[in-house]
Amino acid sequence: MRDDEGRDDNDGREGFGMSVRPRLLITRRLSPEVEARAARDYDAVLNPEDRVFTRDELVAACQEVDAVLPCHSERFDAAVIAALPDRLRVIANHSVGVDHVDLAAAAGRGIIVTNTPDVLSDATAEIAILCMLGAARRGAEGDRMVREGRWNTWSPSFMVGAQITGKRFGVLGMGRVGRVTAARARGFGMEVHYHNRRPLPPEDAQGAIWHDTPESLIATSDVLSLHCPATPETEGIMNAERIAKMPRGAILVNTARGALVDEAALVEALKSRHLFAAGLDVFRTEPGGNPALAALDNVFLLPHIGSATFETRIAMGYRALDNLDAVFADNEPGDRVA
Ligand code: DGY
Repeated sequence: MRDDEGRDDNDGREGFGMSVRPRLLITRRLSPEVEARAARDYDAVLNPEDRVFTRDELVAACQEVDAVLPCHSERFDAAVIAALPDRLRVIANHSVGVDHVDLAAAAGRGIIVTNTPDVLSDATAEIAILCMLGAARRGAEGDRMVREGRWNTWSPSFMVGAQITGKRFGVLGMGRVGRVTAARARGFGMEVHYHNRRPLPPEDAQGAIWHDTPESLIATSDVLSLHCPATPETEGIMNAERIAKMPRGAILVNTARGALVDEAALVEALKSRHLFAAGLDVFRTEPGGNPALAALDNVFLLPHIGSATFETRIAMGYRALDNLDAVFADNEPGDRVA
């Protein structure tokens, strides 16, 4: 029998093969539904105040637990991982991105690491489209003008933006989120181009045009949307040289990770109007963002909320718990990344 949360209703404890429920640290406040399921199946240590752990607090809080369910706000670098107790079996991330975890260090200690793919693709694609439209149609500038009582004119030349209908939409990293975003962009009549190391099978490409190099995609895209994970290979992939290769008047959208972009180079390209605008949900410094970007009118900024919908938060939490359940039932978790 399956319960409301979609899992087998045997309370799972016998399946975990442990006489007491595994002790689970959940580092941030999650959806009530997710916390209720976690408290039912685990000896869950919650964080009702949603206090952000310092590095030392994180290490200390992990000492007495069998598992941790963190978000991308907690960094598990090599030193933190070295300080984790032997009893800790799994880091079950509440995120698809795992750049905050040193996967090699975790693997070296035999700690399983999982993530939450798929369930956030729709929500993140929505934010990518919002960033594209906000940038193209000067959404932040217009909002500020009305809100601050500075809207005192109208003319045919007032607040003219870039139309995206029929333009070329480039996807750098055509994975799950990239493919959903491409599908939404097609709804605007955009022609989709992408770069992956290898072309996708036709059923996934859906007619999108493959480019064998990032440079070729970048030079072709009227709107370039970043969807690759942050890894040592992709760090700073949008550097000054590649930004200069974007067509004059193009738009850059980033809903993946701030580390992909050289923000100083982006500021220069926006100031010189080589780029028409940028729509950004992620930054090198989070929380906070980049004041030099925030000072510009031709950027549409959001505070890393790509997956922040009620539905998706619940789905992410359940997915992380599904992975934990598998580990404690001595099964292979579906979303193992290390
Ligand atoms: C993710 O899942 O990686 C999102 O950026 C939120 O953490």
